[in-house]
Order: sequence, then C-alpha cells, then structure tokens
Amino acid sequence: MSRAKNFARLPGFRDFPPEELVLRSHLFDAWRRVSRRYGFLEYDGPPLEELDLYTQKSGEEIVGQLYNFTDKGGREVSLRPEMTPSLARILGERSRAMPKPIRWFSIPQLFRYERQQRGRLREHFQWNVDLVGGPGVEADAEVLAVALDSLRALGLSSDDIRARISDRRLLSALLRECGVPSDSLDATYPVVDKVERESEERIRERLSGEVGLPPEVVDRVITLFQAPSLAAVADAFAHREEVAGPLAEVQEFIQILDDLGLAGFVEFDLTIVRGLAYYTGIVFEVFDRQGEHRAICGGGRYDSLLELVGGEPLPAVGFGMGDVVLSDLLIERGLAPEYRRQVDYFLVVIGEEQAGLARRLATSLRRSGHSALYGIRGQSVRKQFSAAANEGARQVIVLGPDEVSRGKAVLRDMVSGDEEEVTLQSLMGRDGAGEE
Ligand code: HAM
Repeated sequence: MSRAKNFARLPGFRDFPPEELVLRSHLFDAWRRVSRRYGFLEYDGPPLEELDLYTQKSGEEIVGQLYNFTDKGGREVSLRPEMTPSLARILGERSRAMPKPIRWFSIPQLFRYERQQRGRLREHFQWNVDLVGGPGVEADAEVLAVALDSLRALGLSSDDIRARISDRRLLSALLRECGVPSDSLDATYPVVDKVERESEERIRERLSGEVGLPPEVVDRVITLFQAPSLAAVADAFAHREEVAGPLAEVQEFIQILDDLGLAGFVEFDLTIVRGLAYYTGIVFEVFDRQGEHRAICGGGRYDSLLELVGGEPLPAVGFGMGDVVLSDLLIERGLAPEYRRQVDYFLVVIGEEQAGLARRLATSLRRSGHSALYGIRGQSVRKQFSAAANEGARQVIVLGPDEVSRGKAVLRDMVSGDEEEVTLQSLMGRDGAGEE
C-alpha cells in the first residue's frame, strides 16, 4: 500500500487563499491606477532568463541569491531576482524605434534565495516603474512621485513614510574629497551602506581592514557621516568643483518634489547607497517613519545599463516596490481592505421542478453581468438561505412552486430584509454590467 506524503510549502514562499489575495489585489489595483495616472504603460517579460544577464550587471549581493540551474538543453539560466536587467534587455531590442522618453511599468513575481525573515521572502511581487530616455532630474523626481503617490493612494501619509534620497556621484565625490582612492570606492559603498546598522567601531574596522584605507582617511569618512545633512555637506564641500555639480542636482531634485507637493516625504540621507551595482546618480529608498520595517521601495538612476546589455545608450531611472513590507505595514495601520465574499443574487430553489428555471435565470443574470449562484439540488430552504448568507448574497430570489406557477418569484433584500414579489420576466431582463 502506498502511504500518502504530506507536502509542505517551501520556506520563503506563500500561498494566496482568497482572503489573503484580496490585499495583494488591492496593492496591484493602486499600483496600476497610479502608474496610468503618470502615463506609464504595462509590460512583462519571462520569469526565466540567461544567468549571465544577472551575473554581470546586478552586483554581488544579488548574484549570491540567484535561483539558477542548468536547463535540459544545457543552458545556464536563472529565475528573475529583479526586473531591471530584463527591462534593459527588452528595450535593447526595440528602443531605437520607440519615441522617448519611454514610461513602462510591470508587476513581476521575483525570486531571491534569501534567508527568510520579516519583510524578506524567497519570492515577492515587485512593482517596477521605469522612465527611460529622460536624462534630467525631472525624470528622477517624476518617478519618485509615482512611488509616493501610490503610497498616498493606499492611505499612508508623510507621517507614516519617508523617502531617503542620496546621489551616488555626490557620495563618490565626497568620499574622494575624504581621500578614498577611486579604485576603493566600490569596496567602500557596502560599508557606508551599513553606517546606520553597525557600530562606529565596526565601521572603522571594515574601512581599514576590508577597504584598506589609512587611519586619517577613515577618520574623515567617519566625520562626514557624523554630520550628513545636505546643509552640512553644502557648507563643507560646495566650493569643491567635483561636489558642486551633483550637490546642485540633489538640491534641484528636492525642489521639484516640493513643487509636486511631496517635500514632506523627502529627506536627504547620505547613507542610502543601494545594493545594486548599476546605479549611477540619484538613489532613494522609502521606509516607514518608525523605522520598524525594511525598505518598502528602492530605486534610482542607472544611465549605463541599457548600453551594457547591448542596447542604445539611454539614461534611465526607476524603482521597485515590493508587496511584502508594504502589506505588513498596511495591516499594522488598519489600512488593509476587509475580505468580504459577495454575490449579487442567490437563487433558492424549492422543489426539483424549479431546477431548470433556476439554471436559466442564473444564466440570464450572468449574461447581463451579474454574479449569481443557485442552491444545491435537494437542499432545505433553511440550508439554502444560510448558503446565501455565507456567499455574501445581496439579494435572494426564492423560486417556489406557487409563485412560479403565477410567473413570479420572491425577491428578498438580504441587507434590509425587505421582500417583494416580482415577475420572472423582470428578473430575466435585469440590467447588469453587460456581457464582458
Ligand atoms: P531592490 O532594492 O533590490 O531593487 O528591491 C526593491 C524592493 O523590493 C525592496 O525595497 C523591497 O520592498 C522589495 N524586495 C526586494 N527583495 C525582497 C525579498 N526578498 N522579499 C520581499 N521583498 C523584497 C531592485 O530590485 C531594483 N531592480 C529596483 C529598480 C527598478 N531600480 C530601477 N528600476
């Protein structure tokens, strides 16, 4: 005899029964609505890509988390851990023929072999919004505005969330001013990225050990991060030619966000570096104000990626917003939608003879755009009414032999409890949303 095996869900993966899917759909609806408000068009790509697309472009952090394997044709492939390389590949094939700027969005499911923890899973859905072919800082601001507006649409305000913004060129100019050699910058970024989470002692250790910076340079870097406000940076470094350009751009970025009514959400923060290797300019991450959750959203400018994957050299800026942290936050704030079953009509069938009529009536209602269910054959009236309540029926149509013989039925409003007799003909002709 074979024994049944119990299958568990893989760690870091989720099931979405209807009562859980409702929140995900709520996010997707808001994301789609706000994307369209800003003129972005939806696209998608394959969930599986050539491994090289990620190993060369995304940076070490993500490469260590790839779900990769050799397929049956001997190809080295990977499930997509992020969307940006696919976007660059897709546009590489077709952007030359397209008017610029290109405004595209997508909601892919992504896979990263991460250590499962609060806010981090091995699969998540990530809304990606990217503006390609817009070189100016207005494009950066427009993209961040889309992200913030979607969070507002979901009920969060500037009391709940903040966007922490920085600029990779500004950071590299400042680090060079501190004496960090150009070829040590890439090793310095991941250390700076942890300034908030690790002790000063640990940061010092890493800057001298891992990066190999001399003690006086380490001191200057530490001092820089002790007073990292935009005003402090401007006071200390605005006169330095290399710093002045990116500094002015960050100031303009903040000014534009102010014009867009979003200044209250935005804070300059030099410690925002971003884990991915391809960013070249402004970078940002959105967090809850209390700092209890991981990042809700992250993005920035990546002006070289399209060319690196063989496309037209095009400037680009975009972000990814995941569903995991955002869902946690909405639930915590009481902003998640209530799960409710709902059906327009439930047909209570009294007697076998009414079954055919119930099917015809349900068909007519469904064809005119209503949702309709009917009772299970032979079930008592009481059971059918309780089934109607379970399904969240707004109206119940009772098909009893007496009424039907007179061409009528009883219509009961389940909210008010009111009942009226109506003709079967009027029910057959009920207008709904129409056939889709
Ligand atoms: P990312 O910072 O790696 O950026 O991810 C963006 C967001 O996706 C994060 O802020 C987080 O909300 C969510 N996320 C990432 N990994 C996980 C995970 N393992 N579990 C749950 N949520 C996660 C990117 O992926 C860039 N490609 C975004 C981008 C688009 N940049 C330009 N365009």
